[in-house]
Amino acid sequence: MAQRPTRNSAGGPRIPASQTNPANCPTASAAEFIPHTTSLALLREAVNNCRGCPIYCNATQGVFGEGPKGATVMFVGEQPGDQEDRAGKPFVGPAGKMLNDAMAQAGIPRDDVYVTNAVKHFKWEPRGTRRLHSKPSAREVAACRPWLETEVNIVKPELIVCLGATAAQSLLGPSFRITRQRGEMITDTKWAAAVTATYHPSAIVRVPDEAGRRRAYGEFVDDLKKVARAMKMLVKGKTAAAPARPAAAARETRDVHPTLFGNDHATPHRGRHA
Ligand code: URA
Ligand code: SF4
Repeated sequence: MAQRPTRNSAGGPRIPASQTNPANCPTASAAEFIPHTTSLALLREAVNNCRGCPIYCNATQGVFGEGPKGATVMFVGEQPGDQEDRAGKPFVGPAGKMLNDAMAQAGIPRDDVYVTNAVKHFKWEPRGTRRLHSKPSAREVAACRPWLETEVNIVKPELIVCLGATAAQSLLGPSFRITRQRGEMITDTKWAAAVTATYHPSAIVRVPDEAGRRRAYGEFVDDLKKVARAMKMLVKGKTAAAPARPAAAARETRDVHPTLFGNDHATPHRGRHA
């Protein structure tokens, strides 16, 4: 088997998060590492060199988002997992497989959406020979937010789907609760015309009993079906509004949302918006 390199792609040492001495992992604001470009390919390269928080120290490489510029819908997960860290692509491991299955059942073509994470490097703890996922801190999520903002500014999605609490809290503030607010379409954020949140696929896998897992997966697919319906209408609206004046077109799209998703779900969000 090939030796794993002792240095990560940013040139820092590769030490498990539990043993990392922050002195060996100098950091600066992520914003300093983000090139002024609208090229997703250049940004993908640049994320490897980010030292905006200490997570880069132990990761193989940065994992940037994937999908078409101008995608109507953007999915935001938490952080890359073990397989994503090795592949350099988001959602290619077990969570990605579940996401693909649920998207297929809901009628969302994965190639048409943009998929990314709130945090771009893999944070892990050693457990025997395995690298176990370790939750990024609120501070690390905040440190990485400029990358997500950059992606949103370039892709310009009309609907953002947060997968799990880390993404939801990064976009919608620390008081957001998936359990209470999943499936709500939130229209008063700076991010996009609408933002919604649902379970993280990994959280579904971790539900201890079979019946609970089934129920959670069913709710997940229901949320994605709602996304699929919104996506179809938004794509139609985009095509019809092609020659429109951009500012006016954006306002019209925003106005349409509450009815688009059904009034019962177009709930103004009263939390703090990051
Ligand atoms: N979990 C995530 O949140 N993102 C990935 O890319 C993979 C697993
Ligand atoms: Fe930079 Fe985000 Fe990686 Fe931290 S996790 S080093 S902020 S890209």
